[in-house]
Amino acid sequence: MDELTGRVAVVTGAASGIGRAIAERCLDAGMRVALVDVELDSLTRTAHELDPAGSRTLTRQVDVRDPAQVEHLAAAVVAHFGAVHLLCNNAGVDAGGPFVDISDATWRWVMDVNFFGVVNGCRAFLPALRASGEGHIVNTASMAAVNAGMRTMAPYIGSKFAVLGVSENLAVELAESDPGIGVSVLLPGGVQTRMTDSERNRPADVPPSDDPLRQSVVDGIRSATARDGLDPSDVAVAVLDAVRDRSFYILTHREPALEAIAQRLEWMRTNAQPLPRVLR
Ligand SMILES: NC(=O)c1ccc[n+]([C@@H]2O[C@H](COP(=O)([O-])OP(=O)(O)OC[C@H]3O[C@@H](n4cnc5c(N)ncnc54)[C@H](O)[C@@H]3O)[C@@H](O)[C@H]2O)c1
Repeated sequence: MDELTGRVAVVTGAASGIGRAIAERCLDAGMRVALVDVELDSLTRTAHELDPAGSRTLTRQVDVRDPAQVEHLAAAVVAHFGAVHLLCNNAGVDAGGPFVDISDATWRWVMDVNFFGVVNGCRAFLPALRASGEGHIVNTASMAAVNAGMRTMAPYIGSKFAVLGVSENLAVELAESDPGIGVSVLLPGGVQTRMTDSERNRPADVPPSDDPLRQSVVDGIRSATARDGLDPSDVAVAVLDAVRDRSFYILTHREPALEAIAQRLEWMRTNAQPLPRVLR
């Protein structure tokens, strides 16, 4: 989709971090934007900061885990803006621990937001994207989708592998059935956002991740990201470039991502130990 001016974008997880930056870039490009998040206060504040007049944005508090809420969202966006051209399924959370200690509720929360949130978005918005004749879907996975070596993160890694697989499959299917609709998958490494604080949205039935190993992993990610993480606006630039160019893989940390993929390929070829080195 090379012309973005006047088009309509939907961004989930838009109240913070990467989602907020994508929404801002979309507005800079002359788009109208539906900002979607489960956190109402941050969402309202974000919309006011990005579009003080409120003339080019729509805000909706939606839990992407719930297919009915996402269906209603799709109808509301079409009713408000008349069409949809770009869908960014970006909302995500992380929770985990040593494998046997991870509760069922924790697994379901992470899979429901990170994976089913993407499925719900694609399913609900595809009819409207088709009706627009031209469109694009960007699904946020993670470098964790090509680098499984981080301890205590099994639900997150599983969810992001699933997003990568479904996105690849969707791209193949739509290339045949709907060549006007492009697909991209975003695989960021460390980005300076509130991801390490994502338990702020933890449902009541999900226990806190207070295991010491888990805490040390999260603390390590937090300090590495604060030190070396990308600014979310750089990620957003890469996303809009990919939409314009119809690039499928968005590798914001290109060399480490390719190195992780090469390590996995070598592991597959040889079954040689040691296991792949952890890369961030
Ligand atoms: N920050 C990183 O280093 C990094 C790296 C790789 C991938 N990612 C991915 O980027 C995406 C964006 O995360 P971020 O880093 O900007 O973190 P963030 O915590 O700053 O933003 C995530 C947003 O998602 C929202 N959200 C959470 N659960 C939701 C739900 N059920 N329904 C709707 N919205 C919900 C949160 O309220 C928040 O505003 C996530 O999918 C994350 O997994 C982040």
